[in-house]
Amino acid sequence: MRTVRAPATSANLGSGFDTFGVALERPADVVSVERAERTTIEVTGAGAQFIPEDPKKNTVGAVAEALDAPAHIRIDKGIRPASGLGSSAASAAGAALALNDLYDRGLSREELVPIAAEGEAVVSGAAHADNVAPSLLGGFTIATADGVRAVDTNVPLVACLPEEPISTRDAREVVPNHVTIEEMVTTVGSAATLTLGMCQSDPKLVGRGMVDEVVTPNRAALITGYEDAAAAAVDAGAYGVTVSGSGPSVLAVCAPDRRRNVAGAMVEAFEANGEKARAYRTWTGDGAEFV
Ligand code: HSE
Repeated sequence: MRTVRAPATSANLGSGFDTFGVALERPADVVSVERAERTTIEVTGAGAQFIPEDPKKNTVGAVAEALDAPAHIRIDKGIRPASGLGSSAASAAGAALALNDLYDRGLSREELVPIAAEGEAVVSGAAHADNVAPSLLGGFTIATADGVRAVDTNVPLVACLPEEPISTRDAREVVPNHVTIEEMVTTVGSAATLTLGMCQSDPKLVGRGMVDEVVTPNRAALITGYEDAAAAAVDAGAYGVTVSGSGPSVLAVCAPDRRRNVAGAMVEAFEANGEKARAYRTWTGDGAEFV
């Protein structure tokens, strides 16, 4: 048997749609695998009742098939599904790492990224790698068509999760098909600033680099109370705020000692909009690990 803890992640970070991602120190999924004749899946924990156990419909079923590694797979969810915190990706990344070892496939973590991303296609319709990459590699990752680059970083973050779920499939429907040259120029400037901020573990630069006028406004409109939560976070000291992945979580970056205030301000703002919410005070973190 192999057991892996795979962390939550936040993708996009505003300016890096389908490209940027960070691993979060918490929360995380725990995935255990045992050899079996055919793949079966058992899910417990946060939101387990909403996750299909049919291997054809579950993200880890696609991973087991891609690795030709049938197994009994147990997933203990620490990350609620439809949260914008890479819930399906954490399960896929954990399963990929565990099955690769169980069956001695010898693939590197980088090589496991596209395999885990296949699992994402089952859930969202697109094999985007911007959650599975940081869940496997840790730190800040840049996933492009020709591979993945990762850098260690140390940035304080708050992820605030409102109760109302949003599916990635639905949130991808509101992504515009075209950008203007002005929007492209702004986005490139933001993305470059954010990358520099991650390389220097500088939360101010990261916050500045989250600015995005292309995808985020449409995604934010799907989240009840987003504008108030974002404004409250900035008032409480956040350097930048954006939609985490496809939402509904909202990600804020701030100084380490402002995390409590930022977290409290966002939860209060959501609650004032009739949305129960919880906040994770966290940091950028490591990738999946054996336990
Ligand atoms: N890049 C993906 C999206 C992340 O925004 O649709 C989903 O968590």
